[in-house]
Amino acid sequence: MTVHFKQDEPDKSNRLDGMKQGVLGKGISRVEGLAKVTGTAPYAAEYPIEGCAEGVLVTSTITRGEVTGMDRDAVLAMPGVLALVDDPKLTTRAAQGTADEAPKQGPKTVCYWGQPIALVVAETFEQARDAAKHLAVEYREDEGAPIDPQAVQGEEQEDETVRQGDLARAMAEAAHSVDVIYTTKGHASAAMEPHAAIAQWDGDKLTVHASLQMLNYNISELADALDMEEDSIRLISRFVGGGFGSKLGISEEVVAAAIAAKELNRPVRVVLTRQQVFQCIMRRSETTQRLRLAADENGAITGFGHHALVSNLPGETFAEPVLQSSHFLYAGENRELMLEVARIHRMTAGSVRAPGEAVGMPALEGAMDVLAEKVGIDPVELRLKNIPEKDPEEGLPFSSHKLAECLKQGAEAFGWDSGPRKPRQSQDGEWWVGTGMASAARVHNVSEARARVTLNADGSALVETDMTDIGTGTYTILAQLAGEMLGLATDKVLVELGDTSHPRGPGSGGSWGAASIGSAVYVACKAIREDIATRIGVEETALELSDGKTSSGDTLVDLLGGENIAHEGHYEPGDIEDDYTASGFGAFFAQVRVNRFTGETRVDRMLGAFGFGRVLNHKTARSQCLGGITWSIGVALTEALEFDPRDGHLVNSDLAEYHVPVHRDVPDLEVVLVEERDPAASPIQAKGIGELGMCGGAAAIANAIYNACGARIFDYPMTPDRVL
Ligand code: MOS
Repeated sequence: MTVHFKQDEPDKSNRLDGMKQGVLGKGISRVEGLAKVTGTAPYAAEYPIEGCAEGVLVTSTITRGEVTGMDRDAVLAMPGVLALVDDPKLTTRAAQGTADEAPKQGPKTVCYWGQPIALVVAETFEQARDAAKHLAVEYREDEGAPIDPQAVQGEEQEDETVRQGDLARAMAEAAHSVDVIYTTKGHASAAMEPHAAIAQWDGDKLTVHASLQMLNYNISELADALDMEEDSIRLISRFVGGGFGSKLGISEEVVAAAIAAKELNRPVRVVLTRQQVFQCIMRRSETTQRLRLAADENGAITGFGHHALVSNLPGETFAEPVLQSSHFLYAGENRELMLEVARIHRMTAGSVRAPGEAVGMPALEGAMDVLAEKVGIDPVELRLKNIPEKDPEEGLPFSSHKLAECLKQGAEAFGWDSGPRKPRQSQDGEWWVGTGMASAARVHNVSEARARVTLNADGSALVETDMTDIGTGTYTILAQLAGEMLGLATDKVLVELGDTSHPRGPGSGGSWGAASIGSAVYVACKAIREDIATRIGVEETALELSDGKTSSGDTLVDLLGGENIAHEGHYEPGDIEDDYTASGFGAFFAQVRVNRFTGETRVDRMLGAFGFGRVLNHKTARSQCLGGITWSIGVALTEALEFDPRDGHLVNSDLAEYHVPVHRDVPDLEVVLVEERDPAASPIQAKGIGELGMCGGAAAIANAIYNACGARIFDYPMTPDRVL
């Protein structure tokens, strides 16, 4: 039976805290960890499928124009080559995340350098790669396609615009004001597992093993691309080696593999090269952001302005949501926020690791540091002073709000010396040493989700959904949730994810995964508990289950009497979303050293304190925070997509040239989890955590650089050339 639940009211009962198993929240290691580290967890390209042919994509070497011809015969005559697929569908794929609205390109229209235009299929990968390299393509090239966001007029995104009060006047009358421009570079998701797909047909039924974050949505995209019914498609992504936004939508390898497999009547595998992942999957937009802050003599903010310019291809609907948490993070009656998109011909801009806040917060929190200095107060104090009572634009209450606690607990744990601060106070040999801090905020999202839970006659349980685990810990937290609700140890709960033959989950993205799918599992388990309660004649709320027994000692096995109980939980975010502003909050503290001679910055230590509702698993939650802080180091110091100004092609398209933080760059990180129950965020009182750790952390490093050496830098990443 399907049990529907839509949350319209806050749930202050905190039922889960009263459960007896005591596994929820515990720092249990990942249930699939052993399979992963022993290499027995199969990733998309690793399924041993007999007779599988290998495909390699061919990508465009012009920025904008049209493919007018290909030397098909020459390539088809090469050793092992089976097919050259240049089906228009391959390039009619809409961009990730915006499938419905994106423009349908003409059959061979090229919009950016590196765009897939064909697939070569051969017996072996090497043969396919060789042939792809040798394919001669003729183009008609359009000259003068804009590739520089500064060179075109931005289009205002009117939904994002806020004008409240009179910012110009607040700035003019302010005791202290800041008016600064920050820039951030584009970023790549940089997931470890490259995009890959294996497609197989059985008559009209298509099965695809792929590396994807949102199967519930990806199946619709694929059905659309191939003009098929969803019922005829099965997508499988049981293990995903990171997504970070790049696998929210399907990309060419999935469509191309499906078309080629049909044409050849045999399975086809397509794995992108690392360079292709960088060049044709998607990018985070670069940004230019103007921050204006007006404050009275004590540092109370009276005016708040945030104006951002981002870019995307013409017609794409995604716009890096830079202002997302600027709308509610700090008080200030006079407000002006605006987001503009420049239409340029670089590859599609889309969701990359904490879209919006990952770059918006570093700019805002850098400007806050400038303001603290002008006012002459401690930067922690400045933030505490400006926490709004209610959402300053919408007037809504916050569902829960732990910024103050995070600031205080973080400062305490880090050993932050409060008081006015001056740069260049501490030196260690040839290094200047300094500290900095920043707030964290990331909006909380939830999404419709379904999961089936079966309590088996033998007293074990099974959870099934097409939700994915992209390395975040979904398998583990769902085993904990079901275990807690049903009174079972986690090794008695089998979780099956990543298969569209299961009920539709919410997918992994936007940090909504755990709260959304967790709520569906909660709803299903509650229905099972009601069945059990009825059998023994008690209220569900009075039912105590642990280790497979009720509190009076009846075993679940006896109560089930040889039969399973199965329910599908269907969770939908209700109207409650309109009644509260919900966000995770936190605070970052960093100590850095800056070399006096080379301008090199090293992070000595860093701490993040975060409040994001119920912690479902201390270990996996902490790991998410560690990952987020690590990405913060990347934003602050090393990560930048570099485009050739002549044709807009990406120059640094691999992990050697695009530097994500590695062990040598990441010191011991400390995470403080601030306990919180958010009764309005989700039925399980949890909020998102996946991305919070990188929403502002870069500013803690930037502010520490200033405190160390006195260089106030407004451009991320703060590479040595900029610091010197
Ligand atoms: Mo995320 S960038 O929404 O996977």
